[in-house]
Amino acid sequence: MAMTMTVRVTGAGGFVGSWLVERLLAAGRDRMCDDDRFDLCASDAKNAHLAALDGAGERLRLFRADLLDYDSVAKAVAGCDDIFHVELLAPAVTGTKNVLKACSQAQVKRIVVVSSLSAVMVNPEWGDKAMDEGCWSDVDLCRTTENWYCLSKTLAELEAFAHAKRTGLDVVTLCPSLVIGPLLQSIVNASSAVLVDFLTGDRLVKMKLRNFVDVRDVTDALLLMYETPEASGRFVCNSHPRRVSDVIKLLKSWYPAYKYATK
Ligand SMILES: NC(=O)c1ccc[n+]([C@@H]2O[C@H](COP(=O)([O-])OP(=O)(O)OC[C@H]3O[C@@H](n4cnc5c(N)ncnc54)[C@H](OP(=O)(O)O)[C@@H]3O)[C@@H](O)[C@H]2O)c1
Repeated sequence: MAMTMTVRVTGAGGFVGSWLVERLLAAGRDRMCDDDRFDLCASDAKNAHLAALDGAGERLRLFRADLLDYDSVAKAVAGCDDIFHVELLAPAVTGTKNVLKACSQAQVKRIVVVSSLSAVMVNPEWGDKAMDEGCWSDVDLCRTTENWYCLSKTLAELEAFAHAKRTGLDVVTLCPSLVIGPLLQSIVNASSAVLVDFLTGDRLVKMKLRNFVDVRDVTDALLLMYETPEASGRFVCNSHPRRVSDVIKLLKSWYPAYKYATK
């Protein structure tokens, strides 16, 4: 990528977004922008970690944009070359539609959308076959089981590819499993809170298999998709499933003083 590219990251203050900003700055990108729907500025405590990153002073610009408000998205996207769409919100479809439309209007070259394994795995019809990028969650099943997160991620990703087909916008998507790892931001996000549950026993954990992926692997995958022109379509980003009881064992060996879930 040329050193004059301007990259925008939505949801930059979040768990995945913060690591992506860190990696982009570390990789020496020329300049990048990020956004927030509230008061995003260097003095905003919630996002102070971004302004403190190496290179942020020279190459990071912070924007405020509500992704549910098309005009604010269009204003924020104007002048950018490429987009990482990382935000998380219940009505993901509206936010994604707004970003896609603004990208087309602004003639953005490529948009990398963070979808989720939730848009892949809710599909009993798939049977015994190993799930891969060809597998889509069943929207009717998500709806009838009131699995709103999976439904919104699936619909948002389907919409991203439908928009790409209609307009020719270069869209690639990443479907990570449960993302864990060190936090750059000060607020505990939803996926990191799952690990806290292992300590408090709020969820049944014994024997259950979970798919995890490290946040640094997720951001590396996003950068690879961004930098590889021939990358197209969707990419699953996951490691081997781990038994939750084994994860707890590991946590105990690192932090023996905590109490852990036993049921
Ligand atoms: N973490 C996981 O395990 C996981 C797994 C698979 C896929 N994903 C996907 O990865 C993406 C990032 O997840 P994350 O864990 O990093 O989430 P996160 O820490 O909760 O961050 C979400 C970000 O989106 C912003 N946002 C939410 N609604 C917005 C709106 N209307 N306008 C502008 N910004 C808005 C949030 O800003 P505020 O803080 O101001 O609300 C925050 O910066 C999401 O698309 C998620 O579905 C995550």
